[in-house]
Amino acid sequence: MNIDFSQFSRRFYSVHATPIQKLERLSRFLGGPEIYIKRDDLLGLAGGGNKTRKLEFLVGDAIQQGADTLITCGALQSNHCRLTAAAAALEGLKCRLVLQEVVSGIEAHHTNGNRFIDELLGVEIIKTVSSDTDLMAAMGDFSMEASARGCKVYSIPVGGSNALGTLGYVACANEILTQSASMNLNFDHVICPSGSGGTQAGLEAGFRISKSDVSVIGITVSRPGKSQESKVNQLVWEVQLLLGSDHGEASGSAICNGDYFGEGYSLPTPEMIEAVRLVARLESILLDPVYTGKAMTGLIDLIRKGEFRSDQIVLFVHTGGAPALFANTQLFSD
Ligand SMILES: Cc1ncc(COP(=O)(O)O)c(C=O)c1O
Repeated sequence: MNIDFSQFSRRFYSVHATPIQKLERLSRFLGGPEIYIKRDDLLGLAGGGNKTRKLEFLVGDAIQQGADTLITCGALQSNHCRLTAAAAALEGLKCRLVLQEVVSGIEAHHTNGNRFIDELLGVEIIKTVSSDTDLMAAMGDFSMEASARGCKVYSIPVGGSNALGTLGYVACANEILTQSASMNLNFDHVICPSGSGGTQAGLEAGFRISKSDVSVIGITVSRPGKSQESKVNQLVWEVQLLLGSDHGEASGSAICNGDYFGEGYSLPTPEMIEAVRLVARLESILLDPVYTGKAMTGLIDLIRKGEFRSDQIVLFVHTGGAPALFANTQLFSD
């Protein structure tokens, strides 16, 4: 089913659909199912990545509401904040960020990777807060201060994961179905990282609305599987509501695997380092240390445990994030 997004104010930040490529060498190396990759790391806006799709709808809404300043928050190395800054630059809007020092004492997190690009993109004010700060409250105060000084603020939630932002991945599910039909491929499973949940929820809702039976497996980056499933299911429900109730029911069906995030959000695991190295060396593709590296760890492990049959086809969604490699080079020295 082709979902109609015309009722939403949307900006378009990517010129083409992102490619779906076969990972020939990785598939052979692992000896399991055929693995394909959806290259959302090649989406538009500086450095690309999954937030570009969400921001098409969020910034469209901000502009329609007459905003002149985008405010959002995340970790110091947030890809979402970098891409919000990129969208603001492109639209001639101002951008202010609240960035949380999730892991303390790593100098490169303050100066390199996404944090460096934030500066380059001309973010107006960056407020840095410590790991014990209530990030939502800090962003609320920050937004109120900006409004009091006359800014027309549009606040974007963590990861752009409200129902409106999630529409970006409903659109991505549509794109995948169109591409798989023209490539004559039937994906059995789609694997993606699952953080604030909008990517997985949008894919889930999009496939269910289109009556596709592909299963979406989210590999969590910060939460146990069950609590992430509730979060994703809630968003699936909200995005269906936003699209209108005649789009069917997908609620309650999310599958999240919480076995691969290690000790916590953005904390490295040896398996993540191996996965990032492996995909770089076999496929010339850069994953990231926080999201796609851990999701790939999950995919590799599930293949090794025989969770997929060798006649199945899986699609890994590369949601971007490679700029964070440059703030974490110490993890990868041989
Ligand atoms: C590179 C990358 N991949 C995946 C995710 C997770 O996506 P979501 O927050 O939609 O679950 C994020 C979120 O920040 C991200 O930056």
